[in-house]
Amino acid sequence: MRVVLMSGSSHPALGAAVAKVLNLELGRCTVDRFPDGEHHVEVAEEVRGCDVYLLQTLGPPVDSHLMELLLMVDACRRRGAARVTAVVPYLAYARHDRRETGREPLGARLVADMIRAAGVDRLVAVDLHSPAVEGCFNIPVEHLSALPLLADHLQRTATPGSVVVSPDLGAVKRAERFAAPLKLPVAVVHKYRTSGSQVQARNITGDVKGCTPILVDDMISTAGTIEAAVNALIEAGCEPGVTVVATHALLVGPALDRLHRLPLRRLLTTDSVPLPVRPPFQVEVVSIAPLLARSIELLRLGSQQGG
Ligand code: R5P
Repeated sequence: MRVVLMSGSSHPALGAAVAKVLNLELGRCTVDRFPDGEHHVEVAEEVRGCDVYLLQTLGPPVDSHLMELLLMVDACRRRGAARVTAVVPYLAYARHDRRETGREPLGARLVADMIRAAGVDRLVAVDLHSPAVEGCFNIPVEHLSALPLLADHLQRTATPGSVVVSPDLGAVKRAERFAAPLKLPVAVVHKYRTSGSQVQARNITGDVKGCTPILVDDMISTAGTIEAAVNALIEAGCEPGVTVVATHALLVGPALDRLHRLPLRRLLTTDSVPLPVRPPFQVEVVSIAPLLARSIELLRLGSQQGG
């Protein structure tokens, strides 16, 4: 079956990088807006009978990128695509995987239903907020992780006396997985969120005094979590020169200012979402293009073998 890879407007550079690894031309697809703000999507590529991969990460503006993805899927389906795989490196709304109060929606489930209803057969995502998000989908999910790539990058420059720190209780397993190949101990900051952008850190579990922290999280949005964790760690006697590792660096609102004020050595992240121009601190970016390309290649082989 012919493979078609198309990219939405959310991250053209990543689309081009994945196409390059796969030695494919990106399929023709245009996205613009009607004067009232509605999206207008046109899939010019011939997709009838094809195995189609649509790459669209859901960084800001989140809802707009989501809607664009849904329209691209629908267009491909109506043009007769045999199979549609949505490649969504950063899946927005994944933090809404449970209801804290009875007054909230289950956003992750709703987004999963919308993606399936649009006609997606399979989803590829990277470092979902939690493994539970996979359960929101009634279609197969290829849940990839960039953590081995990030750990591998860090291994070359990690200093002795480091401690891997989870900035909240929900991220402990992720920190443990990251720390294992580096053979580093793990500590945990107990975080309390007071609003969408405000966070407090109250306790730290683990031995951190005199250590250099490597904070590991799935995403940085406003950097409230990282700010609170770093301040608590410094107060507990950690060395400055903190490394922050996060797969998805959204860096919205006060994030750049907050990170700039912290005693950071660097931010280590991936290109799952486009970075804002020139962050005022050291950023090292590991590309996930080879990871996504490999997953597409395996899915393509699977479909040829009837998988
Ligand atoms: C929360 O559970 C996530 O893993 C992140 O820690 C959080 O969403 C980051 O958001 P912010 O940067 O706004 O604190």
